[in-house]
Formats: sequence, structure tokens, C-alpha cells
Amino acid sequence: MRLFITFEGIEGSGKTTQIHLLRDYVERKGYRCQITREPGGCRIGDKIRDILMDSSNENLTPLSELLLIMANRAQHVTEVIEPALRDQRILICDRFHDATVAYQGFARGVALDLIERLNQTVAGELKPDLTILLDCPVEVGLARARERMANENVSWKEGRFEGEQRDFHQRVRDAYLTIAKAEPHRIKVVDGSRDEHTVEREIRQLVSSFLK
Ligand code: TMP
Repeated sequence: MRLFITFEGIEGSGKTTQIHLLRDYVERKGYRCQITREPGGCRIGDKIRDILMDSSNENLTPLSELLLIMANRAQHVTEVIEPALRDQRILICDRFHDATVAYQGFARGVALDLIERLNQTVAGELKPDLTILLDCPVEVGLARARERMANENVSWKEGRFEGEQRDFHQRVRDAYLTIAKAEPHRIKVVDGSRDEHTVEREIRQLVSSFLK
């Protein structure tokens, strides 16, 4: 079945874990499911992701950052998202347009109308059917993200976004909550600071109402 689900949240909100748990669940129910992500999601997108995540690119301007994200999206929509939906799959995307509004718009201060115009050009009318916003306090998210990076032997400063100050992440969290309030039908806020299985159960319930 054709279903486009996106996951959003600050760093360390638990998206990756929950996306994999959800995929296992829908596949057990017999649906075909595909996971993808932004930035990245395709070969050219992965190259763009490397530029975006590289902390040595500290002089990347907010506008360049936005244009790279949109170039990635243009490629990703054409190469991955549209074909998967045409093929009647459940497509789960780790971040999409709401991330651009929250990070580049609210947190970096790029004009929201420019972001909307560019998104209209690269994604047209494509919109998620359901967006799960995993919300958690910045301290909780950043502590988890730090732990994950330590386990992967990546220094904290190596992630260009992770290396931002606390108030940047707070702006992103507040922005996501504002965006969710404006579209309560599509965006469901899930408290991601609870244990993994409680969060998983709530997400299953939200997704179940879309399954035939
Ligand atoms: P990830 O660690 O969840 O894969 O996300 C990579 C980073 O990319 C994350 O810090 C947020 C950032 N990002 C944006 O700033 N704008 C966007 O539009 C997207 C999709 C991601």
C-alpha cells in the first residue's frame, strides 16, 4: 500500500531506533516497506550529506546549506521517494521538509517563504501522509546523541549539527512543536523521552489507523 511516513525530532530523539522497529512491525503484517533518509537517501544525496555533516565546513553559509539540502531533495524525490510510492510501498523517511523549516528556517533564520518556494519546486505537492515528531528535552536528546557518537568513536565536534550550541537545538525543538501545532492532523507529537517500547507502542497505534 502507498503510505508516506516521515520521522522528525532533534538529535538523539530516537528516530533511527523507532524507524527500524516500525519497519519490522509493518513487514510482519505483510506490507512492503522501504526506509530512506534526508540528507542522503541516494548516491548523489549521500555525497551532499557528507558536505553537510562535515564539521570542517564551518563557513558553509545558511543559504548554501539550504540549497544543498534542496538539491539533495530534488534528486531523492525523483530517484527514491516517487518510485517507491508509485510501487505501492510504505516509505519511511528519516527527516523531510519539516526539518528544513525547523533547522534552516527557524534555527538558522533563512526566510520561510524562500524555503516554501524551493520545496514547491523540488517536491511539488508531495507531502507525508503522517509525520511522527519524536519530542524530547534538548538535554535528553543531546546526551543520547553524545553517547551514540562515543560508541561509534566519532568525536562530538565531528558532527556539524551536533556541534551547535544548546540554544540552537532548543530553537529546533520549539520550531518543531510550532510546526506540529499548525498541522495537527498530519503531525503527531510523541513523547520520545520515555522508554523505547512505550514509544514503539504509541507509534504503532498511530500508524495502524492508516493500514488496511
Ligand atoms: P540525522 O543525524 O538525523 O541523520 O540528521 C542530519 C542532520 O541534518 C540533522 O542535524 C538535521 C540536519 N537537517 C537539516 O538541517 N535540514 C534538513 O532539511 C534535513 C533533512 C536535515
